[in-house]
Amino acid sequence: MVEVRVNAGRQWDRLMAMAKLGAIEGEGVNRACLTPLDREARRLLAGWAAEIGAVVSVDEAANLWLRREGSEPGAAPVVTGSHMDTQPNGGRFDGIYGVIAGLEALAPMDEAGLRTRHPIEVVAWTNEEGGQFAPGCMGSMAWAGVKPITAFAEVRDPADVRFADALAEHLAAEADLPRRALGGRPHAYLEAHIEQGPRLEREGVPIGVVTGIQGSRWFQVTLTGETAHAGTTPLRLRRDAVQDFVRAAGALNSLMSDPDDVLRFTIGRIVVHPNTSNSVADRVEFTIDLRHPNGNVLVARGDLIEATIKSAARNAGVDVRETFHAMPVAFAPEVVAAVARAAKAEGLKALRLPSGAFHDAQFVVPVCPAGMLFVPCRNGVSHNPAEYATPEALGVGTQVLARALAALAGA
Ligand code: GLV
Ligand code: MN
Ligand code: MN
Repeated sequence: MVEVRVNAGRQWDRLMAMAKLGAIEGEGVNRACLTPLDREARRLLAGWAAEIGAVVSVDEAANLWLRREGSEPGAAPVVTGSHMDTQPNGGRFDGIYGVIAGLEALAPMDEAGLRTRHPIEVVAWTNEEGGQFAPGCMGSMAWAGVKPITAFAEVRDPADVRFADALAEHLAAEADLPRRALGGRPHAYLEAHIEQGPRLEREGVPIGVVTGIQGSRWFQVTLTGETAHAGTTPLRLRRDAVQDFVRAAGALNSLMSDPDDVLRFTIGRIVVHPNTSNSVADRVEFTIDLRHPNGNVLVARGDLIEATIKSAARNAGVDVRETFHAMPVAFAPEVVAAVARAAKAEGLKALRLPSGAFHDAQFVVPVCPAGMLFVPCRNGVSHNPAEYATPEALGVGTQVLARALAALAGA
C-alpha cells in the first residue's frame, strides 16, 4: 500500500481555528447545533474540503457530507466523521476531532497518489450532543431510519426555539449547497474520537480500539404542584414541586445504586418554576440520563423510573417521558480488526475498550459494519472546557484512521 502520512500540525491548526467559533472562558467551546456559529464552522470545513476537491453536500437532517471519489463506479462509500456541535460548556475536541481527522485522512491520500476503490465520505452529523435540542444523535438517527427527522419537530431548546424552525432556517442558509438523499448503505463506517475517559492515558496506550458502546436512556420528568406564598402557607397545605423533586431524587439514587459502579445515573438539568425565593414551586422539570453496558439492566432499571418517582412524590403530579433509547451495541469485527491492524502497522500499542459515551456510530451499527477508534485525552476530562488532547496524540490517531480507512476502502 502507498505510504500515507497525515499532517498533525495542519490538523491542530484547523482544530484551533474551529475552537475560536464559540470560544468560552477556560479554553472551552459553546457551539450549539443549527446556530450561526455552527454554520460558520461548517463553511470553514467546506472551504478546506474544496481545497482537496472533495464534494460537499447536505441532507434533509442537515448532516454535512464531504466526498472523495473512488476508482470503482457505483462502489458504496466508506464513511468517517463525527459531529461539530458541542455541549454548552464543551471542549475543543469532542466531536470536531473526528470530523477534522476524517478530512485530514483524505488529503495525504491525494498527496501520495492513492486512489481507493470505494469512495470515502466524511460526515458531520447534526445535533449529536443533544445539549440544546434533546435528545442527541438526531442526525444519525434520522439517517439510519430510527426516526424521521420530523419526529423531533416540536422539541424546544432552552430559549424555546422549535427544532423544526432551527432546521428550516439552517437548511435555507445552506440552500446553495447540493442536497443529497437522507440515508444510504455504506461499505463501512469508522469514527475517530477522543476517549473522554482515563484509560488510554493511564495505561500509556495511544490507540483505543473501540469494541462497542454501552446503552443510554434519557427521560424528561415534570412534577406539577401549586405555587403559594412562602411566608404564609403552612407546609401541610402545600403542593411543593421542589420538595417532591428532592424525594424523587433520593428514591432514584436508591434505585440506581450499583456497588460495582458500572451503572451511570445523572440528573443533569433541573428547571424550577416560578424560580423565586419566596414562592413555593409549582413545577420542576428535570432530566435523567441512565447508562449501562448490559441491555437487560438498562431496560429493567429504566422501566422502574416512573413508578419510583410516583411513589416518592407526595402530592405533585408526575409526568415521565422517555426521549432517547439507545441499546448497547457491539462494533463489527472487520472494522475492529481494521483499526487494530492499522495501529499495529504503525508500530503502536492499542487497547480494546468499550465506549461509555454514546456516539453517532451507535446508530450506524444496524446499517453497515461500523467501529470507532479513540485517542487519549488529559485526565479523561470531557464535556468540560478543560478537555485537552495533545497535537501529537491526535495526529497519531488520524494516522491510524487514514490507514484503516484506506484498507477498508480498498487501497
Ligand atoms: C455524548 O455526548 C454523550 O453524552 O455520551
Ligand atoms: Mn462526541
Ligand atoms: Mn459529547
